[in-house]
Parts: sequence; structure tokens; C-alpha cells
Amino acid sequence: MSPSPGAVGELFRARFGGTADGVWLAPGRANLMGEHTDYNEGFVLPFALGQGIVAAAARRADRRLVLCSAQEPDCLLEVALDGLARGGVTGWAAYPAGVAWALAAAGYQVPGACLAIDSDVPAGAGLSSSAALECVTALVLTELAGLSVDRRELAAIARRAENEFVGVPSGIMDQTASLLGRRGHALLLDCRSLETAQVPFDPAASGSCLLLINTRARHELRTGEYGQRRAECERAARLLGVPSLRYLTGVGDVDRLTDPVLRRRARHVVTDDQRVLEVVALLRSSDGDVYPEIGRLLTEAHVSLRDDFEVSWPEADVAVDAAVDAGALGARMIGGGFGGSVLALARSEEAGPVRAAVAEAFAGRSWTAPEFLDATPSASARRMALG
Ligand code: GLA
Repeated sequence: MSPSPGAVGELFRARFGGTADGVWLAPGRANLMGEHTDYNEGFVLPFALGQGIVAAAARRADRRLVLCSAQEPDCLLEVALDGLARGGVTGWAAYPAGVAWALAAAGYQVPGACLAIDSDVPAGAGLSSSAALECVTALVLTELAGLSVDRRELAAIARRAENEFVGVPSGIMDQTASLLGRRGHALLLDCRSLETAQVPFDPAASGSCLLLINTRARHELRTGEYGQRRAECERAARLLGVPSLRYLTGVGDVDRLTDPVLRRRARHVVTDDQRVLEVVALLRSSDGDVYPEIGRLLTEAHVSLRDDFEVSWPEADVAVDAAVDAGALGARMIGGGFGGSVLALARSEEAGPVRAAVAEAFAGRSWTAPEFLDATPSASARRMALG
């Protein structure tokens, strides 16, 4: 569960000499409910994962950011902090550089730094490795500068780095989950007011468990489909005369859209917003075992993402069907879509058969074997004890 601070401290010593000033961690996230709702000012219900990105870091006297990573051991990347411009840095260094740029744009002066990075969030798996990298950099740079910045503001700064510096038009969900998640909880975020609430979420206590299935079809938010969905939602809202799809009061409102594609897109957003609130109500209720109903809502959300929002991909559809056929309570694709991961909910005793069924369905199609990951609602980004 997240790379060890000791190992990343070693990497720091090997690449930079000397000892790091500290080690910081930012988790990836999975989303229980509410997909493509964040940029429509709707509701999302993500949780921070136990997997994350750790950075051992130290302040530098000059104005450079120097980066190395356990995933690319032969590579040392250097970025000059003065004169940073949008699109001026490519590859993964763009994320930390973008955070330094966005911090400066928000008026925070941060120093040069050396960062040694290690990760156990698979990249391209829809688990927000990018947001984790942004958030860990934001914590490192502000703490090395001796600044204390509110976490909501830090999430907005990290998102700005991604939107404006890297050029990915994502919403606010991933950075908020990484910076505000809590162990044993899902985070309800109202993306219009930016209000948050911690919702107790402990499937194990009811004999259920979460399975995260990396379908190994890589997802890439920059390929344009994500931006296209955003544009379609904005067009639908304009045609309906509302500032965003969040302002629709019921699914009947979307019938006023004559374009069938826009109608489907809007229907997904309205129904997924409702599903978030339903799951929250279930988790907060004391009506016995709520997980079968949450599972049903997960599968319903998958159908909506597949048929109305059209962001699913073949491996996700097969994983969901195989999981449900093998006895899972429900399952759905998570994240932006077009590749990435599926989240399944199952009775603990069904976890083995569900995994086996998904693996078999992939093998039968000669697809790369899926990767099964633990999905435990975990704590948010933080400084770690060295050791
Ligand atoms: C990606 C984006 C998020 C959100 C999801 C879809 O993860 O980064 O902001 O839009 O897709 O829910």
C-alpha cells in the first residue's frame, strides 16, 4: 500500500546525494458514483485509494525543479522555474512544473527543489495518477516554502496546472479526492458550491468488498473524446437555457432537447447526479445491508455511461458483465472512460470467483490479463514519517 518512504528516500540519496527534507504522499482515487458530473457542477462521490505517489524532496538554492522517478530510473529531468509557460514542458514533468507555475500564478512563491518520486498507482488506469503527482508536488513545494495553503485552494491550483499548463480539460474531482479523502469514508463533493461531506463507507463491515479491475486498456484524457463530451454537455445546457446541467430538476427536463445525442448525454448527467445522492442516502441510512442496492446502482450507472454517455470500452463492458454474472452485487467503469478501470462490489466470499470469471473472460478473448487491485477508502495526501 503506497511505496515505502524508506525506498524513495534511498532513491533520493542515490540520485541527488544527501538526505531529503521529508517524504510526502498523495493517493490516487476511485470514484464510487458520479462520472462526468464534476464539470457539469454536479455531485461526485470518490474515495482516496491506499495506492499513491510518494516524493522524497529537498529544497534547492537555485530556481530549478529536478525530478527523478523509480519508474524511469535512468532519467533525470530539469525544469527552470522562471519563465515557465503553458505547453512549455512535455512528458510527465509537465505536471510538477505546472503545479509550480499555478502556485506562482496564485501568488505563492515556491523554491527550487529536488524530488525523487515513486508510485504504485498504475498510469493510464483511470486512477488519477496525474492528480496524485500534482497533489504531492503541491504539498512538497508549499511545505518546503513554509506556506500553509488551504486544501481546497490547493486542489484548485493542482487542477489549474492540469487544465491550463498541461492542457487536459478535467474537472475538480480527482485533486479534491486526493487532498480531502478520509480513511473509511467516501467524499461527497458538490461541484457547484464546492461543499464537501465525509460519508462513512466501510463495505467490509457488512461482509462486502470492493474490487478494482485495471482492464489494461490505457486511457488518455488528451485524446479529445473527453473534451468533446464536455462540449456536448455545455451545448445541451445552453440549449436548455441553464448555466450547467446541474440546474436541471429532473430527467424529464432533457426531453426538451431535440438532438438525440445531446439528450442522451444530458440524461446520463442528470441520472448520475441522482445516483450519487441515492448512494449517499443508503450509506447514511441504518436500514440493514445497503450494499445489494448500491451494487444495483453501480451497474445501472455503467449502462448509462455505456449507452447514454458512450464513454465505455469493450474490456470494461466485458469485465462488468463477467463480474455481475459471477455474482458481484454490481460493477461499473470509473473515471473519464475510453480505457482504465472497473470498480466491482461483491460479497467478500464472492471476490475470488468474480476475479476468476473476469480473468477467464479476458483470456477467452486473448486480451492482456486484467490487473486486480485493492480498493480501500484511505487517508488523503500527507507528509509521511521518514523510516
Ligand atoms: C477524469 C477527470 C475528472 C472527471 C472524470 C469523469 O477522471 O479528471 O475530473 O471528469 O474523468 O468523472
